[in-house]
Amino acid sequence: MRRPLIAGNWKMYKTHLEAMTLVQQLAHELAGHDFERVEVAVCPPFTSLRTIQTLIDSDRYEFGLGAQNMHVDKEGAFTGEVSPSMLKALDVDYVILGHSERRELFGETDEGVNAKVRAAFATEMTPIMCVGETESEREAGETEPKVERQVKAGLAGLKPDAVRKIVIAYEPIWAIGTGKTATPQDAQGTISFIRRLLGSDFGAEVAGDTRILYGGSVKAGNAASLLGQADIDGALVGGASLDGGEFAAIVKAAK
Ligand code: 13P
Repeated sequence: MRRPLIAGNWKMYKTHLEAMTLVQQLAHELAGHDFERVEVAVCPPFTSLRTIQTLIDSDRYEFGLGAQNMHVDKEGAFTGEVSPSMLKALDVDYVILGHSERRELFGETDEGVNAKVRAAFATEMTPIMCVGETESEREAGETEPKVERQVKAGLAGLKPDAVRKIVIAYEPIWAIGTGKTATPQDAQGTISFIRRLLGSDFGAEVAGDTRILYGGSVKAGNAASLLGQADIDGALVGGASLDGGEFAAIVKAAK
């Protein structure tokens, strides 16, 4: 059984003080939530990780903690970068890797994403590896080849036991921050395609265990129909995760 995961990608929003308020509000909204049944993670900017880690520890919140990126190396002369072990020391559970904004705006490549995925596993953190097509790729009928390339390259060299633990997020780029959502059927179609890919490369058991999320304009109003699809194991939520009430409603829709 795959436990649903609802993860909030806060992107470059919220100071550490605002982050504290948001997590407290979310905890309030989710009082009584069964986190064993539906896992919830927040992925704030680096500057808020320590603050939220402290809150999670002191108030015994059951949220998972995620980062939005990291450098591949353990340490070194890389001005402005943050290492896997620095994140691990903050009890970070998840790290979003290969988000389309990083690929498109910061030049991340499939090979670079693969190296980071391996570094995350080596540091005992779970990668949330993002894949997805642009609008023009979609219109040209290239969704599956693009996603296949990203999945295969991103998972290259991984053992089946690692693939079983990774989280893949299918985020069509045209749906991110646009208010346009893939239809539940389209999202299910591409996600089941990814699962079949995992099956042929790593075996049916691994494919049956790996969690694959949908991301792209997920809101309280459309969450239930997306999350009701057989292969969609949760959501990676951007804009709607910045509002405690809205994000909590998405979590509740995952039941
Ligand atoms: P939105 O939910 O704002 O469309 O963002 C999705 C996303 O990029 C999550 O990683």
